[in-house]
Amino acid sequence: MHLKLPVAVKGKTTLDREQFQQTINVPYVNVPVECIQTSKWKNALLTLPSMKNVRDLQPVSKTHKQVLLDPDVIVTKEDAIKMMPSIAKYIEESFDFMDLGVKYENYSIEQVIKAILPDDLGKDGPINTGSGYSLIGHIAHFNLKDAVLPYKHVIAQVVLDKLVNVKTVVNKLHEIDSVHRNFDLEILAGEQNTIVKCRESKATFQFDFSKVYWNPRLSTERERIVKILHHNDLVFDVFAGVGPFVVPALMLGCNVYANDLNPESVKWMTINLKTNQSKKFSNQYHVFNLDGREFLRTIVFPRIESYQKEILDDKEKRWCLSDNKIVILMNLPDIALTFLDVFPEWLEKDCEDRQQWILPIHIHCYTFSKAENTDEDIRSRLKTFMPNISDQQISCRFVRQVAPKKDMMCAKIVLFDKKHNDEDHPSKRFKNDSSE
Ligand SMILES: C[S@@+](CC[C@H](N)C(=O)[O-])C[C@H]1O[C@@H](n2cnc3c(N)ncnc32)[C@H](O)[C@@H]1O
Repeated sequence: MHLKLPVAVKGKTTLDREQFQQTINVPYVNVPVECIQTSKWKNALLTLPSMKNVRDLQPVSKTHKQVLLDPDVIVTKEDAIKMMPSIAKYIEESFDFMDLGVKYENYSIEQVIKAILPDDLGKDGPINTGSGYSLIGHIAHFNLKDAVLPYKHVIAQVVLDKLVNVKTVVNKLHEIDSVHRNFDLEILAGEQNTIVKCRESKATFQFDFSKVYWNPRLSTERERIVKILHHNDLVFDVFAGVGPFVVPALMLGCNVYANDLNPESVKWMTINLKTNQSKKFSNQYHVFNLDGREFLRTIVFPRIESYQKEILDDKEKRWCLSDNKIVILMNLPDIALTFLDVFPEWLEKDCEDRQQWILPIHIHCYTFSKAENTDEDIRSRLKTFMPNISDQQISCRFVRQVAPKKDMMCAKIVLFDKKHNDEDHPSKRFKNDSSE
């Protein structure tokens, strides 16, 4: 229901919980207990935070309960009968109105913040004024707009009061601009503890939120990538953070090479890989603290070459792995495309058995686009770094909108995918030719 908001708290920078007390007049009906657990109530029930809408009668009855109804929906006894004809008999007998005391606990976070923020700030709803928050373990994380900053402590206190799992409320101090993609935080309320534990893709992650990058709004995208990974895929993550791609990949039985420039991310990623590693698989993980280009040149490319060779030279491996793939993940959307310039260098280098390689390489490179035609924009920017790539090798996918005219996108580049259209590809030759 829509509670009337107290006017006395408007524009206040401290929280006065007492001001939220009021009495409301609500309809109710007394019904036998067996009528409670049915769906006949539809939208008629009074729903307020921390308020039971099914209560004991006074004096207590073993057979009947009192059900509170929403006064915005049920104005008359006839409304109640119309909405719930199957209990018309009880409505006829007992429908009435009662005064009910409401307090701070019965308001939602949004209602309290709306009541406090000046009208010009709160008119589009607290979420649109920048007071929307993300939850990361025990931390509620705000990115408050400047105009809302005078109210930051009162907003934080409301969140701390109302969300039982939240122990710390923080605000991002400015846009992410550091190399390590973390941002300065101000603790607004609660415990001075930024080391969080959270779950994603069936894995547990631990990290210091003030020192590394973690964005819960990317969880759907990360889960999408994890779904396309298979046991024995070889996975390289160039900008791995604390491991949200590589930890689930390892759990699936992929072989994992993970890199990040931020030593703090590397520290937590190593802990996360170790704590989540499944005993079921003997696959390995390797962690590096290098610049992305150096990681690609000195770790990724040599490992791909030796791995493809191992498979070519070993009949059994060819049989077992010919349906696998090599995946290279590049999630640093501001500049990841520019790191693709090391691929032509590598691909133009002489390598005698490259034409025979069995495993395709799938590069998932994230970027932002503000263009009308995001697909065209990404293809043309991508080709400045990989000029010899064909249109068929590239596909672009929308990930999420990050600002009104700015989309996060994923460009997928496929290299060495000969096996689907080349009957002569070693994997097919091998599988079709039992004499080999
Ligand atoms: C957007 S975050 C992505 C982290 C992780 N993949 C995720 O989805 O949460 C980008 C990461 O790249 C790292 N980074 C920034 N510049 C880098 C560079 N030149 N080489 C390697 N890593 C870099 C940052 O430390 C950060 O952890």
